[in-house]
Amino acid sequence: MSTEPAGIPHHIAIVMDGNGRWAKRRFMPRLAGHRQGVESLRRCVRACVARGVRVLTVFAFSSENWNRPQDEVSGLMELMGKALVREVPQLSQDGVRLCFVGDRASLSAGMRGALEQAEAATAANQRLTLNVCFNYGGRWDIAQAAASLAARGEPITESSLHGAMGMAHVPDPDLLIRTGGEKRISNFLLWQAAYSELYFSDRLWPDFDEAALDEAIADYAGRERRFGQTSEQLQSAQQPPLRA
Ligand code: IPE
Ligand code: IPE
Ligand code: MG
Repeated sequence: MSTEPAGIPHHIAIVMDGNGRWAKRRFMPRLAGHRQGVESLRRCVRACVARGVRVLTVFAFSSENWNRPQDEVSGLMELMGKALVREVPQLSQDGVRLCFVGDRASLSAGMRGALEQAEAATAANQRLTLNVCFNYGGRWDIAQAAASLAARGEPITESSLHGAMGMAHVPDPDLLIRTGGEKRISNFLLWQAAYSELYFSDRLWPDFDEAALDEAIADYAGRERRFGQTSEQLQSAQQPPLRA
């Protein structure tokens, strides 16, 4: 696995929040905000590839988002299906590998097929892994991992749980960004964000552009990640920090 440039997080995770408010401010339907959110994601993926970020994980639809009005939920499902068909060829050209993380059991057979196809079509790409958390909840992930270990009669340890979770194929996020001004996790990456640096932006997701991403990365570059150690230990070459 090649490394990212200095000061650039290997793995960025994003709660893409604020689509609804973006639309409301323009007297547009919420779905127009979600459509603009897809544009913003395309721009963000390109920017991450250009900066040498290796993993980008985005929260696209939460376990709790099913509780939204029915027309918004079906609109979001349709948007996802269409975006896949439209975006996969370009993503593939850009070296992006798509992975979907979340509970597929309650998705339609058509949607499950579309996710599998997109994953298969991009499986060999190596520049950036794009994890799309779709019908995902951090609690669901921990519970399903524990249940699958129990069903196999395997011991439940930190490392076996980690290996049975949806994000086992990538290291934990270094930087976790939430746009839209709220300062909460909303059931995202509860396990994997244990030592992520948190960054909250007031920008609504459709307005989160390259400059905003660069601000977040610059903020991250100035952090001291101690992983439970002291500053003095980190400064001593003999004792490198324990990394996730
Ligand atoms: C985030 O934007 C996208 C999804 C949850 C699918 P929202 O739709 O939550 O936007 P706000 O928070 O209502 O502005
Ligand atoms: C989190 O945003 C989920 C996604 C971005 C997909 P929400 O808008 O659902 O979060 P809450 O309801 O404000 O906590
Ligand atoms: Mg929201």
